[in-house]
Amino acid sequence: MELHPDVERVLVSDEQIANRCKELGKEISEYYKGEVPIAVGLLKGSVPFLAQLVKNVPGDIEMDFMDVSSYSGTESTEVKIIKDLEGSIRDRSILLVEDIIDTGKTIKVVKELLYSKGAKDVKIVALLDKPEGRKVDVDADWVGFVIPDEFVIGYGLDYNQRYRNLPYVGVIKKSAI
Ligand code: IMP
Ligand code: MG
Repeated sequence: MELHPDVERVLVSDEQIANRCKELGKEISEYYKGEVPIAVGLLKGSVPFLAQLVKNVPGDIEMDFMDVSSYSGTESTEVKIIKDLEGSIRDRSILLVEDIIDTGKTIKVVKELLYSKGAKDVKIVALLDKPEGRKVDVDADWVGFVIPDEFVIGYGLDYNQRYRNLPYVGVIKKSAI
């Protein structure tokens, strides 16, 4: 497969992601046995991963999407809702789907926000985890791949809104930044 000219090297291939989503799908559906969770995808980065993941969840699952932008206030991280959820999540179990966890600030505030909207349970699944970047105490319940602290693109992840469509996760070339 042809590499995009701005990609230095592939970190996780399409096939590795497809295989990992099969495993995650099984584990997740075992956890939600007997109930119908709502997969909440954070736009836009989670879309390719969410699409691959839900195809591998054998049980019933609903989907909703949210777009937030998080920024650091004086003492804590604030989150601005750009697009809110469509349906009610009161007393529902939520599977928050994210592309990558770096500092952890985004999922921490979104998790709290979902509980404040009345969610019964919020679990997190992330395609990628950069544990070296963590600044707040939060972790995913399921992770696709742990990666080193490098800037990555593809499979939903962007640099200036580009490269989200690449079918793999790769490290961007210095010359493209
Ligand atoms: P956090 O709040 O620092 O955990 O950041 C998570 C968000 O930062 C992700 O949803 C991505 O949008 C973005 N992000 C973090 N690392 C990368 C990266 O390596 N490539 C592209 N986006 C990233
Ligand atoms: Mg994001």
